[in-house]
Amino acid sequence: MPVKTSRAWPISQTHPESSYAESYRSILTNIELLSINVKSIMVTSAHPGEGKTSTAANLAIVATQASKRVLLVDTDLRHPQLAQRFGVANEEGLTKVLRQGCDAQDVIVPTEIPGLHVLPSGAVGLNSPSLLSSLAFTSLVNRLKSKYDLVVFDAPPVLPVSDPLVLSRNVDGIVFVVDGRTTNRLVAQRALKELHKVNGTIIGGILNRGSFENDHSYYYGSSDI
Ligand SMILES: Nc1ncnc2c1ncn2[C@@H]1O[C@H](COP(=O)(O)OP(=O)(O)OP(=O)(O)O)[C@@H](O)[C@H]1O
Ligand SMILES: [Mg+2]
Repeated sequence: MPVKTSRAWPISQTHPESSYAESYRSILTNIELLSINVKSIMVTSAHPGEGKTSTAANLAIVATQASKRVLLVDTDLRHPQLAQRFGVANEEGLTKVLRQGCDAQDVIVPTEIPGLHVLPSGAVGLNSPSLLSSLAFTSLVNRLKSKYDLVVFDAPPVLPVSDPLVLSRNVDGIVFVVDGRTTNRLVAQRALKELHKVNGTIIGGILNRGSFENDHSYYYGSSDI
């Protein structure tokens, strides 16, 4: 029977028993099984619209379901989406912390999901992405990692902009999303090559919008995941 939801909450929240949520949980388990200590993850992809924000949100949610304290950070300073997805204000956020040196805890907001906090992008302008290469950003990431069990960065896509390459220096691991319907193999390889060039640690790949051909127990009918 199709599963419908009128809300834009990620599917791991609305349908924690679905195969989709289970897939996110197994991705997280696989990451945890890696020998390296992964406390910060960046989610990126080759192009816009391939499911980075959805993946970041779902991974963060399944981590909270495993009793972790999780912070989702909107580092897509060109197309910030997290505040809207979680229904929180975006007037203040990461850009204010980096520009004005205010305490991140003053702009980090709780969500309706226990254990999940969001650091929205805050107001963004043309120069905002350059903040990601500042020393202030590096030291902020270190502080956040000491306060949360997991910090998930929702990043822009690799090929149009260099922000994810810059961000990769400050994260323990990169999760790379491929859209099963639109991402061309060569394009994905080109993006991965860019990340490898800057020594990015790719710890996992996610096939978004792939088909669950052998799993007829759950279908997802919403336009949001
Ligand atoms: N597996 C999926 N099934 C249905 N809808 C999906 C799925 N993945 C993503 N979407 C929807 O597609 C749209 C784009 O997804 P999302 O915002 O996660 O992509 P993105 O890579 O973060 O995009 P951008 O590069 O613009 O930030 C959203 O409306 C999202 O709800
Ligand atoms: Mg996005």
